[in-house]
Amino acid sequence: MCGIVAAVADRNVVPVLLEGLRKLEYRGYDSAGLAVLNGGLHRLRSVGRVAELAAQAEEKKTSGEAGIAHTRWATHGAPSERNAHPHISGGLAVVHNGIIENHEALRQQLQADGYLFTSDTDTEVIAHLVEKKLRTITDLFDAVRAAITDLQGAYALAVMRESDPTRIVVAREGSPLLLGIAEDGHYAASDASALLQVTRNMVYLENGDCAEISRSGLRISRVDGTLVERPVIESQLSADAVELGTYSHYMQKEIFEQPDALANTLEMVGAARSVQPGLFGADAAEVLGGARQVLILACGTSWHAGLVARYWLEAIAGIPCSVEIASEYRYRQSVPDADTLVVTISQSGETADTLAALQHAKSLGMLRTLAICNVPESSLVRETALRFITRAGPEIGVASTKAFTTQLAALYLLTLVIAKLRGKLDAETETRELIALRHVPAAVQRVLDLEPEIKAWAQLFSAKHHALFLGRGRHYPIALEGALKLKEISYIHAEAYPAGELKHGPLALVDKEMPVIAVAPNDTLLEKLKSNLQEVRARGGELFVFADADSEMSDSEGVHVLRLPEHYGALSALLHVVPLQLLSYHVALVKGTDVDKPRNLAKSVTVE
Ligand code: AGP
Repeated sequence: MCGIVAAVADRNVVPVLLEGLRKLEYRGYDSAGLAVLNGGLHRLRSVGRVAELAAQAEEKKTSGEAGIAHTRWATHGAPSERNAHPHISGGLAVVHNGIIENHEALRQQLQADGYLFTSDTDTEVIAHLVEKKLRTITDLFDAVRAAITDLQGAYALAVMRESDPTRIVVAREGSPLLLGIAEDGHYAASDASALLQVTRNMVYLENGDCAEISRSGLRISRVDGTLVERPVIESQLSADAVELGTYSHYMQKEIFEQPDALANTLEMVGAARSVQPGLFGADAAEVLGGARQVLILACGTSWHAGLVARYWLEAIAGIPCSVEIASEYRYRQSVPDADTLVVTISQSGETADTLAALQHAKSLGMLRTLAICNVPESSLVRETALRFITRAGPEIGVASTKAFTTQLAALYLLTLVIAKLRGKLDAETETRELIALRHVPAAVQRVLDLEPEIKAWAQLFSAKHHALFLGRGRHYPIALEGALKLKEISYIHAEAYPAGELKHGPLALVDKEMPVIAVAPNDTLLEKLKSNLQEVRARGGELFVFADADSEMSDSEGVHVLRLPEHYGALSALLHVVPLQLLSYHVALVKGTDVDKPRNLAKSVTVE
C-alpha cells in the first residue's frame, strides 16, 4: 500500500528518499514520485518501479536538502504518472496515504473557487485545500491544521512549500506515520524500515497529531494547536532483517525463517513448566478469566489463523468462539456481550478493516480486547487492553507465511492459558502441551526438508488454471490458506472446501484438468477424508495429498502422496501449512510471476 518518506537535513536528501522508497516497495505500489526544494520545487514521477524514479533523478541530477517522496497504490484514479504523488498546488507539494472520503464534495468547492485539477486522485484535494488556507493563514503548520479539519477519512500526509524550504509539515489520522531524529536533520515515514538508514530514534505520531520537522528540531501538536510531547523510541527493528541475503525472494526467505520465528515467539515458554496469563499482559488473568466467549476479528491469512484457533478454543478450553472477517463485522448489526474477549489478529497491526472492527466492538461495550500482532509499535497494539507480540521479524513478501505460523503458536498459547483459567487443563496435560510446543520449530524444519519433492509437484501445477483444496476440521482453514497462497502469487484460481462439502456442489468441477490438493494428517477425520478423496478419483481428478507419517496412504494411479515426517496432533495445522506455502512459491517461480509483489496487492492494507 502507499508509502511516505520525507526529509529535511544538512545533506542532499534525494538518496535518502529513494532508499526509503526502496524499503517500502514490499508494501506494494504501482507508481512512485518525489519532490525536492532547491531554488524552486522540482518534481519527478514514474509509473513502475522506484528504480525508474532513481534513474530519472540521476539523469536530471535532482538534489535538495528538503524533500518528500511516495509510492502509490491506486485507489482513486488509475495507476498513471498524472495520478502519482506528489500533487502540487501553487508552490506547494503533498504526498498522502489513506482515503479522503469527502473528496468529491471538496473537489466541487475547490473547482468553484477556481482551482484546476490535473489528476483523478483524492490527494489533489488536500494540495489545493492547504493552498487555499494559505491565502488567509500565513504559517504552513497552521494552514495544514486548518485544512485537515475539513477532511473526512484516513490520512498520513506530508506537505512542503517552495517559499519555506526549511521545514515540512506532516499529519496523521488513521494511517501510520512516524518521525525520525538524526544528527543531520529530521525525517518522517509511514514505516520505520524506511528510516533505519539514517536513525533508530523514532517518534510515533498518534491519530490527530500534526508535526513540523526542520533541520534543527520538531514540534508536535494536536489539530487544535495544543502542543504535545511524544516519546522517542529506539527502534529494535534489525536493518539486516529487511535484507534479502542469499535468498531469491522474501517469501522464500520468510518460509525458511519459520523455525527461528517460531522459536523466538515461543521463547517465553522456553524453560517454563506452566503457561501463565501474564504472557498476554499484566491484567490478563482478569481480562481472559472473566470472558464467557471469544470473538476473533481479522482479515485474509490472519482470519485463517483465527479459524484454526476456533477449533482449539472450543475443544481444549471449552469456550464458545466465533471468527469474523473484520470488513464484514464492522458494518454488521450484531448482538454484543460485554463479557466477550475480542481477539484481533494482524501481521501489520495497521489493517484498516481490523482496526475499525476493533473500534466497533469497543463502541458496543466489549472492552476485553487482545491484539496478536507482529509489529509492537503498530496502531492495533496501542488500542487493545492485552497484547501478544509474535516475533516473526519483519515480513516483507506480500504473501504472509511466517506471520501465520507464529500467529498460530500465539493462539495455541492463548488456548492453553484460557483452558487453565477455566479449570480445563490438568498439570500433566499442561506439561505435555508445553513439550509439544517447544518441539514445533524442529518439526517445521523437518517439513522444510521436503522442498525437493514439493518442487517436483510444482511443475505439474504450472499449466493448470484451477485448483481445489480440501481439508476437514482444523485443517479446513489450512486448505483455505493454501488456496489463498496459490491464487495470490501464481494467479491460478483456487478454492478451498471442507472435504465433506464436495458432493454438495464443487464435485461438478472435478475432471482430469482439476488438481485436488488434500490436507490429510492422521486425525479423527482421516477415514472420512479418504472417502471424499475416492469421490474425486472416481471423477478422474488428480490428487495431491499431504499426509503424515501415520496416515497410511501411498501413491497410486492419479494419486500423489507426500508424507510429512511426523504426526503432530492438535498442532498439526502449524506443520501442514508449510508444504502449501512451498508449493505456491515454486508454482509461482515456474510461472515467472512477481512472487514478492503480486499484481494488484499490497502488503499492508491501510485503506478500507
Ligand atoms: C496474506 O497472504 C495476505 N496478503 C493478506 O490476506 C493479509 O493476511 C491480510 O491483508 C491481513 O493483513 P494483516 O495480518 O497485516 O492484518
